[in-house]
Amino acid sequence: MNEAPLAFMDSGVGGLTILKPAFAQLPAENTLFFGDEAHLPYGEKQPQQVIDYSLQIGRFFVKKQAKLMIIACNTASALALPTLQAELPIPVLGVVEGGSRAAIQATTNHKIGIIATRATVNSHAYQRAIHRLSSQAEVVELACPTFIPLVEQGDYHSERVQQMVIDGLAPLQGSGIDTLVLGCTHFPIIRELIQSVMGPTVTLVDPGAETIAEAHQVLEQRQLLAQDQHPFHDFYTSSDPERFQQVGSQWLNRKVDVQLVTPSQL
Ligand code: SIN
Repeated sequence: MNEAPLAFMDSGVGGLTILKPAFAQLPAENTLFFGDEAHLPYGEKQPQQVIDYSLQIGRFFVKKQAKLMIIACNTASALALPTLQAELPIPVLGVVEGGSRAAIQATTNHKIGIIATRATVNSHAYQRAIHRLSSQAEVVELACPTFIPLVEQGDYHSERVQQMVIDGLAPLQGSGIDTLVLGCTHFPIIRELIQSVMGPTVTLVDPGAETIAEAHQVLEQRQLLAQDQHPFHDFYTSSDPERFQQVGSQWLNRKVDVQLVTPSQL
């Protein structure tokens, strides 16, 4: 059972950002990653659709003998986590709790910004999680849906992108936040740009990286940590494996072989 894989899901390539800390903190673990690009972006879908897609992917992972599922996608974490925890026979973690805990630890003035998809912002999942941890925290939520297609297209450095990020973050300027949660898997990929727009006094929090520390704890408590010297890393997408392979190999700095699994094959 210890050599069974950890399974990660996201709506697209953005979720690969969670694999960097996973490979660093849990180097012996075998992993599965599913990017549901046929349904991207989850942030513009109805909540029940996001729940249905996430559950299908969770069942796919169970068939693949996964020992733990991590919902890297913030939108799916915000909307589908309780259903997956109730329906699947394996432990399931989302990224909202870890991101909220890290934000509370990082802030000194108790003013925390959240940038996320429209669906995550509308769910107020981060706001609720942060207020459960600290009633005095002030939370400013901002939907930045325009950043996601830029990342999916692999366009991180052009002037057009810089201007879109400046415009997208404009409502946060002058808000007084000292901490900003990157509440969408795609945003850590343009982290440097976001940092330069927000300035050095704002601490950025990546919920994915925090969730890996939580996964480590869960595996340790259940005595499920792997010892593998040569772990495998399998990648699946529901659409366009070539583009996924290109962006994934570039981001992870290693060759990524991607298999196509269409929604009807799940
Ligand atoms: C999306 O699918 O809309 C973005 C992924 C996320 O919410 O983290």
